[in-house]
Amino acid sequence: MDVLVVGSGGREHALCWALRRSPLCGRLLCAPGNAGIAKVADCVAVAADDIAALVELARSERIDFVVIGPEAPLVAGLADRLREAGILAFGPSARAAEIEGSKIFMKELCERCGVPTAAYGRFDEPDEAKAFIRRHGAPLVVKADGLAAGKGVIVCHNENEAYAAIDHVMIESAFGEAGAQVVIEDFLIGEEASFFALVHGEQAVPLVSAQDHKAAFDGDQGPNTGGMGAYSPAPIITPAVAGEIMAKIIRPVIHGLAEDGRPYVGVLYAGLMFTHDGIKVLEFNARFGDPECQPLILRLKSDLLAALVACAEGRMEDIALDWYPDPALVVVMATQGYPGHYARGSLIEGLEEAAQVPGVSIFHAGTRREGDRLLADGGRVLGVAARAPTVPRAQELAYSAVDRIVWPDGFCRRDIGWRAIGRS
Ligand code: AMP
Ligand code: GLY
Repeated sequence: MDVLVVGSGGREHALCWALRRSPLCGRLLCAPGNAGIAKVADCVAVAADDIAALVELARSERIDFVVIGPEAPLVAGLADRLREAGILAFGPSARAAEIEGSKIFMKELCERCGVPTAAYGRFDEPDEAKAFIRRHGAPLVVKADGLAAGKGVIVCHNENEAYAAIDHVMIESAFGEAGAQVVIEDFLIGEEASFFALVHGEQAVPLVSAQDHKAAFDGDQGPNTGGMGAYSPAPIITPAVAGEIMAKIIRPVIHGLAEDGRPYVGVLYAGLMFTHDGIKVLEFNARFGDPECQPLILRLKSDLLAALVACAEGRMEDIALDWYPDPALVVVMATQGYPGHYARGSLIEGLEEAAQVPGVSIFHAGTRREGDRLLADGGRVLGVAARAPTVPRAQELAYSAVDRIVWPDGFCRRDIGWRAIGRS
């Protein structure tokens, strides 16, 4: 099969890396890709949100199968447009992707399906939102309804922060139309973990779990990011807990979507909080997590392409996934300043030496090549991943690779995996 992957992050590098190893994979294209992806796929300069150009690319290159990495093209209807053109695609329709694209839709769906999530209010008017905040008190969480590149969730520790969040989202329109409506929800306390399942309509096959590190700095300090590191599995998700998540969260929600006439096809990501009051859903995503996808892929023994094609075609009984029992962990290296303002174009050296550490794979998240120089080209730039018999060992290997990378303008957290290591 000739395959096109859409996206340019560490997630897409990990996907391309695994797809390339499939005996079923013919030509592998990636749009737009990055300098790391260019080593395993042919990168084509089409942006991941240029729906018309992506469909045209798939058509003109006679692509058999398209794997859509990020949420923006899903919410914009790329999977729909590809299917209309008769091209097999992995990823939900725009209407199904609303589970990520609209927090209000997600909350109402959970309510309808009896899926546990934080209590909330929805508002399209700032004064009403503020009156609710006054009645409710802090802490609470303000969420822009629409997509906001991972920045639309504001945890507010006191009422003033919550009023400021409403001004930022609804009055200053920091996220444009995405903030025209907001969800304000209870602040949940507990341990976070993520769970992934392949879904086609009402059928689902569980993948494995992961734990992300969203804060920018060690000790979970600093601003929220897209994720500064992750590992799989999440120790809190035992096989029994995975069964409970499938029964109480994944199956009811995909049933609800199908009933709504928006059957889900693709990978469904459930962001969960383990509270003293049971498991609650923080968010659903319509795609693989990034960086979570990187340790997931390092643990996958089976043919990724065969599984994704079977999911897209609705042959769920053909999906038999084997995983390495060993955990895998990824440390994200980001440009100084991320998640705020950062510069592009700083020089990165030492990747070949770093990649020689046994058990280590390096995924590119935001890089480009200029001649034979490798340059940073984004906020999150590299994912240094390792698989090993234990999390402490995987962490040691990943950091020993990180320490061989010479990139003065980059930074990373030094404590990825702390929760799992604390447990063991
Ligand atoms: P989301 O994009 O909805 O997952 O939110 C991003 C991050 O904000 C989550 O990973 C949590 O760490 C935090 N968060 C979101 N909703 C809540 C909540 N109701 N209570 C506590 N933390 C939350
Ligand atoms: N790492 C969080 C996400 O992909 O949404």
